[in-house]
Amino acid sequence: MLTLPWENPVLPGFIVFEGLDGAGTTTQARRLCDHLNKDTTGSTVKANWTCEPTGLPTGKLIRSLLNGPDEVTPWTLALLFAADRNEHLAHPAGGIRDLLAAGKVVISDRYLFSSLAYQGAYAPFVDVESLNHQFPLPEHLVFIDTPRDTAKGRMRDRTARDRLEQDDVQARVETMYRDIIADFERAGRVAVHRFDGSASVETIFGQITELFDRYI
Ligand code: TYD
Repeated sequence: MLTLPWENPVLPGFIVFEGLDGAGTTTQARRLCDHLNKDTTGSTVKANWTCEPTGLPTGKLIRSLLNGPDEVTPWTLALLFAADRNEHLAHPAGGIRDLLAAGKVVISDRYLFSSLAYQGAYAPFVDVESLNHQFPLPEHLVFIDTPRDTAKGRMRDRTARDRLEQDDVQARVETMYRDIIADFERAGRVAVHRFDGSASVETIFGQITELFDRYI
């Protein structure tokens, strides 16, 4: 699936969570962050939770498009997500690079792998891949591999589903994710950790903390 070598620089201390909508990435990323910070306060906090789309103007624009009536082309969405990623990395106050330079661990709920899986499923994959090839890689990639039906069940509590959360989109994204994650596993540049998302939230959390207690 990947067509480029992906020998991009790796950012130490940067951890990314990925998975389908409803896979549990937000819950697990937040809980890991709280776990790493459990004995810290204020400026001694070790880990920062963050997400894409961000809460920056670029991310707000994306959310309004995903939830609103106006349609944009898949390539436009790919460009917007890449612009938001650029802000996420480079923002002078609390951007990923800034936090890492201050010695923090940064845990992001989604990153470029989401663009490869979601936008790559609808816009030409090679173009989405080269657009995202400019970005650095995380040190760790946590993939919560949740079967689509389980993920869908977990989304049932949500009031409204955005346009990417529709069943046909999720079906395509599920296949894309598995292929892309397998490619990054083979490439060996990012430490890929795959968890069975059909297990309970507590079980998965136990496995994740056990893993990162060894690293951090
Ligand atoms: P999500 O993490 O589900 O945010 P929320 O919990 O607030 O709904 O992200 C919103 C959607 O954006 C989700 O369906 C995945 C999608 N997405 C992409 O399509 N490409 C990307 O590059 C990113 C970061 C997210």
